[in-house]
Amino acid sequence: MDVIVSLCKRRGFVFQSSEIYGGIASCWDYGPLGVELKNNVKRAWWRDNVTLRADMVGLDAAILMHPAVWKASGHLDHFTDPMVDCKACRRRFRADQLDERPWTHYCPATKGNKFAVAGGEACPHCGARRTLCPECGKGELTPPRQFNLMFKTFMGPVEEDAAVTYLRPETAQGIFVNFDNVLQSMRLKLPFGVAQIGKSFRNEITPGNFIFRTHEFEQMEIEFFVNPNDAIDGRPADEVWHERWIEERFAWYQRYGIRRENLRLREHEKAELAHYAKRTADIEYKFPIGWSELEGVANRTDFDLKQHSQASGKSLTYFDDERKSHVVPYVIEPSAGADRSVLAFLVDAYREEEVRGEKRVVLRLHPDLAPIKIAVLPLLKKRPEIVATAQDLRARLARRWTAVYDDTAAIGRLYRRQDEVGTPYCVTVDVQTVGDAEKGEAGDQRVTIRARDSMEQIRVPIEELATVFGELFDGTGWSAVAARYPAAKG
Ligand code: GAP
Repeated sequence: MDVIVSLCKRRGFVFQSSEIYGGIASCWDYGPLGVELKNNVKRAWWRDNVTLRADMVGLDAAILMHPAVWKASGHLDHFTDPMVDCKACRRRFRADQLDERPWTHYCPATKGNKFAVAGGEACPHCGARRTLCPECGKGELTPPRQFNLMFKTFMGPVEEDAAVTYLRPETAQGIFVNFDNVLQSMRLKLPFGVAQIGKSFRNEITPGNFIFRTHEFEQMEIEFFVNPNDAIDGRPADEVWHERWIEERFAWYQRYGIRRENLRLREHEKAELAHYAKRTADIEYKFPIGWSELEGVANRTDFDLKQHSQASGKSLTYFDDERKSHVVPYVIEPSAGADRSVLAFLVDAYREEEVRGEKRVVLRLHPDLAPIKIAVLPLLKKRPEIVATAQDLRARLARRWTAVYDDTAAIGRLYRRQDEVGTPYCVTVDVQTVGDAEKGEAGDQRVTIRARDSMEQIRVPIEELATVFGELFDGTGWSAVAARYPAAKG
């Protein structure tokens, strides 16, 4: 993880929030390249789940909602984690995660020597199991107390109970309370889904691991409503749709470059299921911290619509034309984290390779996700015609793709910098492109395109650049395009 954190800071992906004041724990800012990457992840998600589907619509609900929403949804009473404190060092832990943590042990069998013992294991010397604080190894722990993860705030100038509201801990509830608005305004027929991307907030007891678990994060959530009375191939429609969404979401991460071997599905045990869920499967990624949840795909049944209907007194049903009766739809919820996805895409794309005896760091990001699509580089920055041509090219390409111009180092270095941030293509303008007016030599008006992954280079006429990049970014493979042009010398 350290390599990724360091790359993110050095190359402008992610900075610690309020760093000049010493930082604030588990809050992160997305830098110039990070915001492009995250926007691209969200754009790809929205395009695939909303724009390209006939059965989905979008929504952007407010972060602050009526406090009654959180009572009805169960968050006020149940959105808690058990918390314990160390009486000596005052550190705080989630009681249910204590056994997973490595623990510090002053072993009586070795004259009180200090050891780090793996999570869940006994001391190999004295056989003792952890009872004290896992961090300092000395303090007793308080009994577990339930701690609500919602951030409380006040609306208006007076901090009184009547003004209490909460920062939403999930975007989902904004969709449930708007169910009827969306249904009526868009004249939808079941099954249909509503998608939303937005910020959520959780006062996590143990946040950490960079952008993996933070207090403020972005979710990309779908609530897909299904008629529970319908059957597909003799099976309940909600169960079939649940399986379809698990497959679809599992495939999505691979479509954007995550390797299959780094993804797995984890079925929730009955005891682990959220109070509203009939079945939940997590899509897990092999993060540097180990296999962890990237996205949860839950069958929330009719729990939320029924709860909000009862609490608000408003009907949240669907009129089933065929059966001539009202029904409360079931809902399948694929719920992904935008920040966690960014982390997974970064980790999976990161490679260290050896090229001609030197280390090359490359982010093999999918072109749709890469923060910069094209870097235009002048081979010689002392030649005004080269610089002018390169800058003009950048401006023209930037109308369609995120393109940058860089002349702050020699060409080899510039290529390495672009590799390190995942830029799929570099365009180099050289003497051959512009010619030499003093010597009466005309340029060939061709530039070199270099592909990040293979490092192959081709010479392409400037006037064909837009067409070539159009093909490359629409999915035509590099080799098919490169076959039409002469290779350039590396
Ligand atoms: N509406 C269902 C729901 O919120 P969840 O499993 O609690 O389910 C869904 O959250 C996704 O949101 C997670 O899979 C994860 O990607 C992301 N997420 C949850 N808590 C997070 C946190 N503290 N920091 C970053 N991402 C988080």
